[in-house]
Amino acid sequence: MNQPKTTKPGMAGSVISFPERGPWGESKWRGNASGHVYRSLFEQLRPQVFIDPMVGSGTSVEVACDMGIEAYGLDLHQGFNAVSMDILCHVGKHADLCISHPPYGGMIKYSGPGGMWGSEPDPGDLSHCADDAEFHEKMQMVLLNQRRATRPGGYYGTLIGDWRRNGIYTSYQAEIIARMPANELAAVIIKTQHNCVSDAKSYGAMKLPRILHEYLLIWEKRSVSAVVLLSTMVKEQATRVSGTWKNIVRCVLQGLGGRATLDRLYAAIAAAAPERLATNPHWRDKVRQTLQLHTDIFRNEARGLWSMA
Ligand SMILES: C[S@@+](CC[C@H](N)C(=O)[O-])C[C@H]1O[C@@H](n2cnc3c(N)ncnc32)[C@H](O)[C@@H]1O
Repeated sequence: MNQPKTTKPGMAGSVISFPERGPWGESKWRGNASGHVYRSLFEQLRPQVFIDPMVGSGTSVEVACDMGIEAYGLDLHQGFNAVSMDILCHVGKHADLCISHPPYGGMIKYSGPGGMWGSEPDPGDLSHCADDAEFHEKMQMVLLNQRRATRPGGYYGTLIGDWRRNGIYTSYQAEIIARMPANELAAVIIKTQHNCVSDAKSYGAMKLPRILHEYLLIWEKRSVSAVVLLSTMVKEQATRVSGTWKNIVRCVLQGLGGRATLDRLYAAIAAAAPERLATNPHWRDKVRQTLQLHTDIFRNEARGLWSMA
C-alpha cells in the first residue's frame, strides 16, 4: 500500500505523516507520538493555553513550551485520573486546546510490571480496562471532562487508533465519535503510524491490511450549557437506537419473506439477539412500537400479522 503524501508545513490536509519524532518527550515511552503532530496542530489552531490530560513522557507540553504556549500536562502516573478527576479544577483555567492521547485497548500496558510506571497495575489506567465496553464508556467521560476544560470556541480532541486482535476489529475512533455531540465534530485527521513495535513482526500470512494509521479527532466546543449538551446527546442516542430498531425489524421481516406473524418475528429476533436484549423484558414492546410507528415501511395486514408496506 502506498504511504499518504506528507502534508508539510503545518496541517494543511487531513492526512499527516511524520516519520521523525523530533527532540520532544522520551523515545522510550511506549506508544508516544511524534512531537511534530503537536507542532503542526499548534501551528494550525494557535492556542494560547494547552492541556494534555494524559501527557505520558511530556511530548506535547515540551513542544508547546518551545512555541511559547502556556501548557499543562497531567497523567495518571502523577496521580491525576482523567476519568474521575476534573481537569478544569486541577488546572484552574480553561484551555484553547485540550488534546489527550490515551492508551487504547490493552495493546500497551502503562502501569504495573512490564509497563512504563508503577509496581502494580493501577485500576484507573485505561490500558487495564476489562473490555472494550469499559474503555468506550471511560473515554466518553474523559472527552466530556476535556470539553468542560475547554473555553467555548476552543478545541478538544484525542489521538487514537484502531485495534485488530483475534480476528476482531475494534474501531475506537468510531465508538468515540458516536458518543460525542455530533454538531461539535470539527476534524478527523488520519495520521500515518511509524516505528511501531509491531513493525518487527511478520505479517506475511495476514489476509487483511495491517493497521498503519491513527486518528486525530477534534471537536469545537460550542457555547451551550451542560443541560443543552446533555439533551442534545440524549436525543442523538435515542435517534440512533430507534433507527437501529427500525433496521433490525426490517431485516428480520425481509428475511422471513416480507410477511410474518408477530410470534415468528419475535422468535427470529430472539434467536439472533445478543444476550443483553434477551434480559430486557420490554424488547417485544419495542418491536411492536417500531412496527406501528413506521407505517411507510410496515403494514398490519390482520391482527398479529405484519408485512412490508
Ligand atoms: C499513549 S500514552 C501518552 C504518550 C504521550 N503522548 C507521549 O508522547 O509521551 C498514554 C498515557 O495515558 C496515561 N493514562 C492511562 N490512563 C489514564 C487515566 N485514567 N488518566 C490519566 N492518564 C492516564 C498513561 O499513564 C500514559 O502515560
